[in-house]
Amino acid sequence: MSKQPVVIIGSSGHAKVVIDIFEKQGTCEIISLLGEEKNIGSECLGYSVTGTEESIPKILSKHPSCKAFVAIGDNHVRQKVTAKLLSISPTLEFAIAIHPSAQIGRNVHIGNGTAVMAGAIVNSGTTIADGCIVNTSASVDHDCNIGEYSAILPGATIGGNVIIGSSSVVCIGAVVKQGIVIGNNTVIGAGALLLENLGDNVLAYGSPAKVVKSRVLGERYL
Ligand SMILES: CC(C)(COP(=O)(O)OP(=O)(O)OC[C@H]1O[C@@H](n2cnc3c(N)ncnc32)[C@H](O)[C@@H]1OP(=O)(O)O)[C@@H](O)C(=O)NCCC(=O)NCCS
Repeated sequence: MSKQPVVIIGSSGHAKVVIDIFEKQGTCEIISLLGEEKNIGSECLGYSVTGTEESIPKILSKHPSCKAFVAIGDNHVRQKVTAKLLSISPTLEFAIAIHPSAQIGRNVHIGNGTAVMAGAIVNSGTTIADGCIVNTSASVDHDCNIGEYSAILPGATIGGNVIIGSSSVVCIGAVVKQGIVIGNNTVIGAGALLLENLGDNVLAYGSPAKVVKSRVLGERYL
């Protein structure tokens, strides 16, 4: 069977991990990397950055079945770049990157443009929406709902029946108790233990986690 052509947008450390996943999946052929103008000509794991998002129509004319994958770690930037690609090529489809060592339970839905990294667990009945990241060794237990462009960072643990909105982040090593509801654009800091629901646009950390400040959309957290 012929491999699915994929173009990757990004060439950073996060892109390296995504490239490694596609190579290990063995079902996709990476045909090119795209990035910012200043990165054209640079290489990442032996693949060259050949253009910007504006190059998508040319790539699609040569490889009509080509899918894209936005390999950018920051939630807000990933969402913006995805929107730009769709404004240039409205029918563009997005691939899904799941490392072969990830454990995916029954009745799990993984959205388009989402990456599930090595050693991650997504347990039965959970939905991970489009454009998310479930990073290395993160665990999302049963019947959770993770909104679009959210990220569960390395080693974070999410109990069962947790609901997380869009563009939110559970940072490295944080723990979220079962049944918790977290809003949109909210960040749970590294190593936090979250025992209470959180609304939109806040940063919380500590054990037990408390709200520290409010956040504006696009504020950096990495
Ligand atoms: C929560 C976070 C986003 C806050 O970043 P920030 O607002 O820039 O915070 P600062 O680094 O300026 O720290 C401000 C204060 O908060 C404290 N603080 C920051 N994050 C904290 C955390 N997770 N838990 C406890 N205290 C924390 C700092 O020690 C500092 O305290 P001080 O004023 O007494 O010195 C960041 O600390 C974090 O957790 N990032 C995680 C990134 C991650 O998961 N990376 C993985 C990439 S794959």
